[in-house]
Amino acid sequence: MGKHGRVTETTLAPAAVGATVHAADSPDAPWWRDAVIYQIYPRSWADADGDGIGDLPGITARLPYLKDLGVDAVWLSPFYVSPMHDAGYDVADYRDVDPRFGTLADADAMIARAHDLGLKVLVDLVPNHTSSEHEWFRAALAAAPGSPERDRYVFRDGRGPHGEEPPNNWPSVFGGRGWSRVTEADGTPGQWYLHLFDTTQPDLNWHNPEVRAEFESVLRFWCDRGVDGFRVDVAHGLVKRDGLPDWHGAVGLYDEVLTEDGPDAVGDPAVLDHNATGDAPMWDQEGVHEIYRSWRAVLDSYGSPGRILCAEAWVKPEERLARYVRPAEMHQAFNFDFLETPWDAARITAVVESSLRSNDAVGAPTTWVLSNHDVVRHASRLGLDQSLPRTNGIRAGEPQPDAALGLRRARAYSALMLALPGGAYVYQGEELGLPEHTTMPDDVRQDPTFHATQREVTGRDGCRVPMPWTHDGPSLGFGPGDHPWLPQPEAYAGLAVDQQDGVEGSTLELYRTLLRLRREHRLGGGSLAWDAAASATVVAFRVAAQGDPGVLVVTNTGADPVTLPDGEVLVASGPLDDAGTLPADTTVWLRVAAG
Ligand code: NOJ
Repeated sequence: MGKHGRVTETTLAPAAVGATVHAADSPDAPWWRDAVIYQIYPRSWADADGDGIGDLPGITARLPYLKDLGVDAVWLSPFYVSPMHDAGYDVADYRDVDPRFGTLADADAMIARAHDLGLKVLVDLVPNHTSSEHEWFRAALAAAPGSPERDRYVFRDGRGPHGEEPPNNWPSVFGGRGWSRVTEADGTPGQWYLHLFDTTQPDLNWHNPEVRAEFESVLRFWCDRGVDGFRVDVAHGLVKRDGLPDWHGAVGLYDEVLTEDGPDAVGDPAVLDHNATGDAPMWDQEGVHEIYRSWRAVLDSYGSPGRILCAEAWVKPEERLARYVRPAEMHQAFNFDFLETPWDAARITAVVESSLRSNDAVGAPTTWVLSNHDVVRHASRLGLDQSLPRTNGIRAGEPQPDAALGLRRARAYSALMLALPGGAYVYQGEELGLPEHTTMPDDVRQDPTFHATQREVTGRDGCRVPMPWTHDGPSLGFGPGDHPWLPQPEAYAGLAVDQQDGVEGSTLELYRTLLRLRREHRLGGGSLAWDAAASATVVAFRVAAQGDPGVLVVTNTGADPVTLPDGEVLVASGPLDDAGTLPADTTVWLRVAAG
């Protein structure tokens, strides 16, 4: 949605109090149905060798921190060989580790250490495109039009008398055209190749059996090394509509609408809701599902305890997204509708109910998420005017978030999320309440979006800043070097792990408590029913696993305190007063009496 448009009001049906919206899992449900998975962004988590870029040995050394935090698994963004034009989402070799991150032996050691600690490991799979430095793309450039080498990608002749116009009007998600023209071996201007993302990320042709075989082999390669699953990048993009027809809607995934006319050219919600119409010819085509059924068979062949696929699919409405997690397909799909829901009780209630219902309809768990490496961190997002659409990055000179308000709401929203039945993803640093870096100098920005839009769209660097482990020292304990690849904002020193560890009321201790209670009460496998404490400004629900009385969760999204229901407070996201009220922007979990 364009950054100047306002979110349109929707009319929401009042949720039925007492109604069970979601039934509990059986106690022997597989691990992934309720797992809390921590996303590590490898270049920004821990830097063992001091070159300013995080690495696998750094991750391995810090894994005990995650055991203490209380998560079940980690997902690592790509660490494969890459020229890094899109921070590793441009893969040149799917079977090797980029030297900046370490070696294959380091990957093996990381997986082994995680398993020793009882943590499962998911890696990232990037199947929509390779890097332009992948050997396949080099071979395609060297080969002639119509060759088997070109057929692995989406090469087409151009339109116009001399083929000088791109084959269709599709823009790139990052800005600019979605096609680039190559120079043929004889030096003449030649065919065009499709890249829905950066020019260095050519889209693969998923109609080609060699492409299918290759990715099944890559899945096996990492399964054989012991990984427990894959987060699948752009899972809704692999197959394009036959004939590659022109498209006049939006293609953006990360907030801004990018059209041929540049970002934010469209303000019409009908156009913005492109996926709701099912019309976008580059997204959510029926053919993707067959691919995931074949992958599921590969993973299932490894037997118990089950290796998983998690879809990164920006698909609307929820019923369309649920099709990715039908029984023979993927296990999880990120609930981006939840992530995009502003701080508003009615909207939160509605999205929780509708997403549980649509996933339940296919027997899948719902996968909750509030932050990742592509969106403004929720501690900052929630400190912005909630009536405005999400922005893609924030920079100096733009309206700045209210940091205290954002953090209060982030803690409350996370406390709500971690009580919900299903799985949840936690993005590195959210357990510290880290804000977005909103004043980063433009000349250090690396997101291709920033450059492809001639600096019009700020992009995602602000959520990718290296972790602060200590309040002082080089790069705040990120590594022994003084120069992390992106600068850390001043606020990070006070939020470092060593400033919060063991400190009552800190965000880190809040997350540890939430995760411990979630595990003790098996909330991830619980049922969910709405509670009478709900109101226009209050979300209230009960979650209970089989054989456990469960917890009552109450979140006040309003500006004024509300009456706190009776009951023992198990955890609160912020200070409570003695007046028996629940302050603004606060979540509590209350013990529910047994019987
Ligand atoms: C989604 C990833 O999360 C994002 O970081 C990346 O730029 C695009 N896919 C393209 O691979």
